[in-house]
Amino acid sequence: MVRADRIQNANIARKVMSAEEAAALIPHGSTIGMSGFTGSGYPKVVPAALARRITEANARGDQFTVSVWTGASTGPELDGVLASVDGIELRMPYQSDPISRAKINAGEMEYVDVHLSHVAQMVWEGFFGHLDIALVEVAGITPEGELIPSSSVGNNKTWLDLADRVILEVNSWQPVELEGMHDIYYGTALPPHRKPIPILQPSDRIGVPTFQCAPDKIVAVIPTDHPDRNVQFKTADSASGRIAGHIVEFFGHEVKLGRLPPGLLPLQSGVGNIANAVLAELDEGPFRPLTAYTEVIQDGMLQMLRSGTLASASATAFSLSESYLEDLHANIGFYRDRIVLRPQEISNHPEVVRRLGCLAMNGMIEADIYGNVNSTHIMGSRIENGIGGSGDFARNAYISLFITSSTAKDGTISRIVPMVSHVDHTEHDVQVIVTEQGVADLRGLSPRRRARQIIDNCAHPDYRAALQDYFERAQAGAPGLQTPHLLDEAFSWHTRYLQTGRM
Ligand code: COA
Repeated sequence: MVRADRIQNANIARKVMSAEEAAALIPHGSTIGMSGFTGSGYPKVVPAALARRITEANARGDQFTVSVWTGASTGPELDGVLASVDGIELRMPYQSDPISRAKINAGEMEYVDVHLSHVAQMVWEGFFGHLDIALVEVAGITPEGELIPSSSVGNNKTWLDLADRVILEVNSWQPVELEGMHDIYYGTALPPHRKPIPILQPSDRIGVPTFQCAPDKIVAVIPTDHPDRNVQFKTADSASGRIAGHIVEFFGHEVKLGRLPPGLLPLQSGVGNIANAVLAELDEGPFRPLTAYTEVIQDGMLQMLRSGTLASASATAFSLSESYLEDLHANIGFYRDRIVLRPQEISNHPEVVRRLGCLAMNGMIEADIYGNVNSTHIMGSRIENGIGGSGDFARNAYISLFITSSTAKDGTISRIVPMVSHVDHTEHDVQVIVTEQGVADLRGLSPRRRARQIIDNCAHPDYRAALQDYFERAQAGAPGLQTPHLLDEAFSWHTRYLQTGRM
């Protein structure tokens, strides 16, 4: 039910209008900074009204597009509706929407794939141009006119600070008790005025719980009660279970060697089925109390907070399945004491990730025999989602793990290949690769020793001999032996797949 009492400031309440009226304030060519991160806290009604306007303009023969910046991925009511009417000129910094993906890969939408911690500073530096409008979902507006953040923080602080005009969706589906969970840090600056980010523990609070916004910039307020998109997870398969088992064993080994404390170090985990399987295994494992300094709170983290395995978690957003979303809302007071939601430039800040010594665990599309990782492009050209926060964490982590099943598409694709078809994480940022086959610990190894570890421990048996054969012939025929490659053959696995449907 839409609740007007969420808007407690009388001046701002006077700006309540319909989504259509708000969309009419957005002209062709606008750049809009929208809220939203992994399907949480994105505006739910104005983008659809804008899409209808775009359709009408196109029917009249008028051009109408906007550029859309967000925190990360959103939901069909934002990316899907705007992409389906060809309304987006440029999109950044991350998406995972099927319609957007198709438009980008068809060359019909410009897409800039950015490290998520870099977005705010690059916008402040002016590299992306002027921000016309901030379109931000909030959970409420206080009597003083402060904005209570919604289920994600993302880049909202930057959008509200920099935009000429602000449109707010006030969503009464979001629990009002979210108030107090957020930590909005107003201490960032551009060089040479930067100061250390004073976070020494994942649970540290260094900012304030609400966004500040000059009231005269707010031009429209739209009450809504629409749910966040929730995530459908597949049931964990046996490969995910085996990967999770390898990771817990690996961490146990590190604890035994004294390289990790018994409660490990703050966890960072990508989202998805494998990540949830790993978290479930850690929940059963011997390490505690754990903490998380991560980008997104997913099901597994809520479960670990409930069981007490996880003492606290810092992130910028939620990404939950329906039942965990219900659990979050039912027990919001319990979670508010244990979760801190921050702007993504802080949740993913390299300085903090390095200081805390995060254990970074991210998924990938493919890795090559020397440990370069492709997280974003299928067959070298087709974007899947984007780099997201994986680079923020991987380069700065205490241990950086990349995790995947050893094959894709029913075994027709090996995710270990001679040379990756696109590089997101170079061999310098990849320390450990884990597949259901086993663990390749690459720390301290030269490229040829890395190759032996990856082929022997991580490749699927159906592809191991062929990788071994490539590696041996490369050592015999390459122009150098530091990182031996046969350049006319390095991508032959990909071209064979494209021609025959099998690597
Ligand atoms: N070649 C061709 N297709 C491949 C492939 C490969 N090597 N690897 C995966 N695919 C396909 C899969 O078949 C699947 O296609 P489908 O949707 O048609 O079935 C799709 O790509 C996604 O693969 P899947 O294995 O289901 O993905 P995932 O859930 O393990 O996610 C990434 C893997 C890389 C896509 C995902 O982790 C990601 O986007 N990472 C970058 C962002 C990130 O790391 N964020 C977290 C940081 S906090």
